[in-house]
Amino acid sequence: MTATGIYVHWPYCSAICPYCDFNVYRARGADNARLLDAIVADLEAHAQRFGRREIVSIFLGGGTPSLLRGAEVERLIDSASRTFALNADCEITLEANPEDAHLFAEQAAAGVSRFSVGAQAFDNQALRALGRKHDAAASLHAVEAAAATGQRVSLDLIYAREGQGAEVWRRELSQALKLPVEHVSLYQLTIEPGTAFARRVDRGQLAPPVDELAAELYEATQEVCDAAGFPAYEISNHARAVSARSRHNALYWQSEDWIGVGPGAHGRLTHNSARIALEAQRRPADYIDAVRENGAGWISEAQLSGEEAGDEMLLMGLRIEEGVDVARVERVRGKPLNTPALNWLLKQGLVAQAAGRVRLTRSGRLLSNRIVAELAS
Ligand SMILES: C[S@@+](CC[C@H](N)C(=O)[O-])C[C@H]1O[C@@H](n2cnc3c(N)ncnc32)[C@H](O)[C@@H]1O
Ligand code: SF4
Repeated sequence: MTATGIYVHWPYCSAICPYCDFNVYRARGADNARLLDAIVADLEAHAQRFGRREIVSIFLGGGTPSLLRGAEVERLIDSASRTFALNADCEITLEANPEDAHLFAEQAAAGVSRFSVGAQAFDNQALRALGRKHDAAASLHAVEAAAATGQRVSLDLIYAREGQGAEVWRRELSQALKLPVEHVSLYQLTIEPGTAFARRVDRGQLAPPVDELAAELYEATQEVCDAAGFPAYEISNHARAVSARSRHNALYWQSEDWIGVGPGAHGRLTHNSARIALEAQRRPADYIDAVRENGAGWISEAQLSGEEAGDEMLLMGLRIEEGVDVARVERVRGKPLNTPALNWLLKQGLVAQAAGRVRLTRSGRLLSNRIVAELAS
């Protein structure tokens, strides 16, 4: 059986944050039962089409899946377990907003083994500027409530926020790393097209982070995390130990297989030696209709060409500290990486090469997309 992960997209949020461009909808009046029914049926459709697989990870992401009650989370996990074979160590992550801390105990009892708490900041003014509905005390309480369940805890923070200098960020991050967490995901604020923040930038009401400051903040992030025993193992992810790394995200970074269910979810499955890309209907009502009419939620199923699969492997694999196995990438893409570009990048100290693998250096991590484009050209 092929080791596979399951990503479940729960698209509802109690409010939409002004920086977020994920596939999200206001939760008001949402019909959880109909969407849960559709997701359960979609899981079964995947098993019929792609076989009963061994599941090593389930990731309940969003949106805000922490709005789900324990019984609803349990239904999702049970259905994955009945439809597939859950590995004994299956990692079950729930992305959680601090406002939902009162539900963590029942969600853990339902089977969640890892909470990814969206604290985002520990400063009230910053949280207001990010349009968050919780304050810093609630972020702290949520981390403690997640830890009190006895399950693994990760923390998300957004930095390079408007007006945030390196010293302020260093202090905030140092405090965060003293909390009972084994893992942190640290994202620079990105101004995504189509968001309220992008409109504010267009109107001159919000200053986007400038490159020099972003680079300084990235460097500060690495220093503070290294000193606190949270080395980076991926561009934005830091863990106290190898065992604390996200096993689910490793499936994406290492181009392994995962099923995506729920509105707008993407999947990648190896089937009959082909790499298949699947994408589900985006709008919840359309997703529910698609499952009712076709028995499955995905609306597109395309076989990736060798070059597409190889380039994706390069893009994702260069994010992690181990980098990529060059022979594997070249075999999949059916052609070599650009050797002059690789030599130039090595000379510039942007990538390093050892034992058949190429990886980004610390300075290379800031330029990852451009480096991938050069190597794949
Ligand atoms: C889609 S959210 C879901 C988690 C949860 N709903 C929350 O808000 O905490 C996943 C993570 O993406 C990050 N994120 C979303 N939009 C971002 C942006 N424009 N810039 C940087 N990070 C972003 C946040 O740190 C967030 O925790
Ligand atoms: S950041 Fe989280 S809570 Fe805010 S809109 Fe995006 S998914 Fe929802």
